[in-house]
Amino acid sequence: AERTLILFKPDAVQRRLCGRLLTRIEERGLKIVGLKMLQVTPELSREHYAEHVEKPFYPQLEEFITSAPVIALCVEGPEAIQVMRGMMGKTNGRESAPGTIRGDYGVSRQMNLIHGSDGPEAAAREIGIYFSDSELFDYDPTLAPWTCADDEL
Ligand code: GTP
Ligand code: MG
Repeated sequence: AERTLILFKPDAVQRRLCGRLLTRIEERGLKIVGLKMLQVTPELSREHYAEHVEKPFYPQLEEFITSAPVIALCVEGPEAIQVMRGMMGKTNGRESAPGTIRGDYGVSRQMNLIHGSDGPEAAAREIGIYFSDSELFDYDPTLAPWTCADDEL
């Protein structure tokens, strides 16, 4: 199974939506293998958003992502990266379909509640930024046989 790095961004923490977001992930049948709250520093922001550091909107993005604590999760499941990107919706909440997290809870391009790795390389890199090996857990969820077939895992 695949792993992806998810952040509940400062707006999700401030708006007290983290429980709802976590419930959506759990209800989908994905497995939480790591979870913590932390304050993103400017240094951490530049590392995480390395691909955006030179973009005009980066200063605003850094101010936002460092403005309150975030909750970081490592989520595992079959095609977890794409499944999570689908649940998140488009970057801009105004363009996201109802039923997606960003489409249901937001109208902003910047304050879009949740981050998810956009590919396998990014996932490996970002999981390494936010979690040490000892903070990630391997376990067999009892419900696993009822969430997908063996050959999908
Ligand atoms: P992430 O999962 O957070 O990486 O979102 P994404 O992959 O949908 O978007 P992208 O990587 O292109 O941008 C990273 C984050 O920067 C977005 O989620 C927004 O919070 C913010 N962002 C993107 N574009 C803009 C912009 O034009 N202006 C501002 N202020 N913020 C932006
Ligand atoms: Mg991105």
